[in-house]
Amino acid sequence: MAWPSIRALDERLSAWHLRRCQNITDLRRVAERRVPAPMFHYMDGAAEDEVTLARNTRDFANWELLPRNLVDISYIDPTTTVMGQKIAFPVILAPTGMSRLFHWEGERAVSRAAARAGTIYSLSTMGTHSIEEVAAACLGPKWFQIYVFKDRGLVTEFIARCKAARYHALCLTIDLALTGNRERDLRTGMTVPPKFTLRSWFDFVLHPVWSMSFATSSPFSLANIAHRVNTADQNNVNTLVSYIGEQFDRTVTWDDAAKMIAQWDGPFAIKGILTADDAKRAVDIGAKCIIVSNHGGRQLDHVPSSIGALPEIVAAVGDRAEVIVDGGIRRGTDVLKALALGARACMVGRSYLFGLGAGGEAGVTKALDILRTEVVRDMALLGTRNVAEITSAYVRRRR
Ligand code: GLV
Repeated sequence: MAWPSIRALDERLSAWHLRRCQNITDLRRVAERRVPAPMFHYMDGAAEDEVTLARNTRDFANWELLPRNLVDISYIDPTTTVMGQKIAFPVILAPTGMSRLFHWEGERAVSRAAARAGTIYSLSTMGTHSIEEVAAACLGPKWFQIYVFKDRGLVTEFIARCKAARYHALCLTIDLALTGNRERDLRTGMTVPPKFTLRSWFDFVLHPVWSMSFATSSPFSLANIAHRVNTADQNNVNTLVSYIGEQFDRTVTWDDAAKMIAQWDGPFAIKGILTADDAKRAVDIGAKCIIVSNHGGRQLDHVPSSIGALPEIVAAVGDRAEVIVDGGIRRGTDVLKALALGARACMVGRSYLFGLGAGGEAGVTKALDILRTEVVRDMALLGTRNVAEITSAYVRRRR
């Protein structure tokens, strides 16, 4: 059978799987089947004993929702704004690296699905499509996430390119001056640079459609960075990944962040904040948005869960900046709890990547549909008609 017919057949199979998915956990199960193990575990896994990863989802159960009944809930409005940008519901897409590992269309597919859902897509420095390619694919609101590299010229270049491509905001990630110890990746061979084991080669053979799609689409590259690598072989992934490994800059300080905020001179978020101290510093240097995040548990293990850290940070920031929470959001009820505890919106990473792995753009659309449907239904069940009504009166710590 010719390759295009195999791919068409596979798309029909994935559509069948997607129709049967009721929630984000179902999408995860399908992604696990469709994506080779090294890639699946790269998205699913976290640092060391994955204690923080587990707490990110589990700690939402520490909070109870307090519904009010006999309220006219005939019309529910889940829209909100984040740094002045209107979005269809309080969920935005986190920057996640190397999305083409999970589906050959990668960031382009994700950004299109985000635009269709009426929300913000954040492209990562480590994206496999460039700032300009995503701008061309996605008419919706876009952020660009920055890691500061030793090559500081790259940051200046990113800022100019994002301005030219009309990105709405920049997001500086501050919790990755070096990569966390992700032992699942060491086991599967998804190392930096990649060193695949015999077992992972079997996995590629067992996932022929993924492998053929990867092999027959444009060469895999870290599209925003490749041109800065001083080598003849800029598309060699090993070379690129080793370059990046060397480029994480351990000397970055708040002064550098302040300079970047001044250089961008527009909406600016700082991601990776877990303490009131850091939140206050971020606001003092001019960040308009604080993203409470532990990088999905992928960096330092045993740090607080995102929902656990949120109340203290909201109290420290007050109305000087907006607060977003990222980590462990799998349900509409998680979003409502975060909002009731003072978040402006939630960021999701794995929740949409599971959709991407399960079914490309259609899978991301499915993930966002699931979350939006749950948010709207849960707002109605809570007796709140718009996001402004979701206050601390609707949540309490479980007794
Ligand atoms: C990159 O941000 C990663 O967590 O792998």
